[in-house]
Amino acid sequence: MIDKKVALVTGVSSGIGRATATLLSRRGFRVFGTMRKPSEINGPLEGVELVRLDVRDEESVRSCLRTVLDQAGRIDALVNNAGYTLIASLEETSIEEAKDVFETNFFGVLRMSQALLPIMREQGYGRIANISSVLGFLPAPYQGIYAASKHALEGYSESLDHEVRQFGIRVSVIEPGFTRTSIGQNGQLAGQPLVAYASDRNRVLDAIRESIAKGEDPVRVASVVMEALTSRSPRLRYPAGREAKFLSLLRRFAPARLLDNGLRKQFGLQTPRSSDPPPDIRLGEKVP
Ligand SMILES: NC(=O)c1ccc[n+]([C@@H]2O[C@H](COP(=O)([O-])OP(=O)(O)OC[C@H]3O[C@@H](n4cnc5c(N)ncnc54)[C@H](OP(=O)(O)O)[C@@H]3O)[C@@H](O)[C@H]2O)c1
Repeated sequence: MIDKKVALVTGVSSGIGRATATLLSRRGFRVFGTMRKPSEINGPLEGVELVRLDVRDEESVRSCLRTVLDQAGRIDALVNNAGYTLIASLEETSIEEAKDVFETNFFGVLRMSQALLPIMREQGYGRIANISSVLGFLPAPYQGIYAASKHALEGYSESLDHEVRQFGIRVSVIEPGFTRTSIGQNGQLAGQPLVAYASDRNRVLDAIRESIAKGEDPVRVASVVMEALTSRSPRLRYPAGREAKFLSLLRRFAPARLLDNGLRKQFGLQTPRSSDPPPDIRLGEKVP
């Protein structure tokens, strides 16, 4: 009998993590899925063995990996999916709020990967799929810290993929566009909002909520994760879904001004008619 490949997916209580864990299980993986509170699971997760994990906590990471290795003896694939958004202007974001986002979205991935790499090196095999975002290559307004965390994740993943290839390990980033999940409800807003940003921020928030509601089915993202984990020669980047593929092409080939205008329009931000400075600060001009 051929042993099943073992996958560990973080954050399976909802959304992309849940869809990915379910799909991997249906396609023959033995799947361990993590939640911070497994007792609060919302509906059955067919074929998925639940493990407690908070990616912000070193001991929780160690204990999660111990549990999976004790039960399965190996981990062939890690899907770093756990993450959340912060919708806020950069000026109204506190350093603590920014650090919290990085603690989960970036250092959470670092913790999981660093703890698992010695095992994967010993196995001489491993696949890591990090769930990034379109915002990992295309920053958007009022999601600056989230975009920064995903850019950091993309840089980290690309470097890591170079370093661990010699051990039979490959790393990919999956870049979903708006996807119909609980990310809006689970996201954070600025704790100390500034009135100056209120109207633009609220317009962006409405646009994001609407885009998530009309977004891709998370199953579509799950199938892209599946492709990255099972391809003989995985790519580094996988834009997931139609919108993400289109934006990835635009980012690479379209003039910057076109993208800038398109983004501002999508998020309902007004573009000033002219970007000239006001007359009294123009260099070399007399103030009337
Ligand atoms: N939905 C989108 O439009 C979209 C687009 C691009 C990228 N993404 C990315 O896709 C990933 C999944 O998001 P989603 O849309 O599926 O959102 P979601 O429905 O809110 O799911 C997020 C998952 O992350 C887990 N999580 C959050 N903080 C955690 C922590 N500290 N430790 C362990 N698990 C934690 C949550 O689990 P518990 O709270 O149960 O522990 C939950 O299962 C994220 O990395 C997100 O950035 C989403």
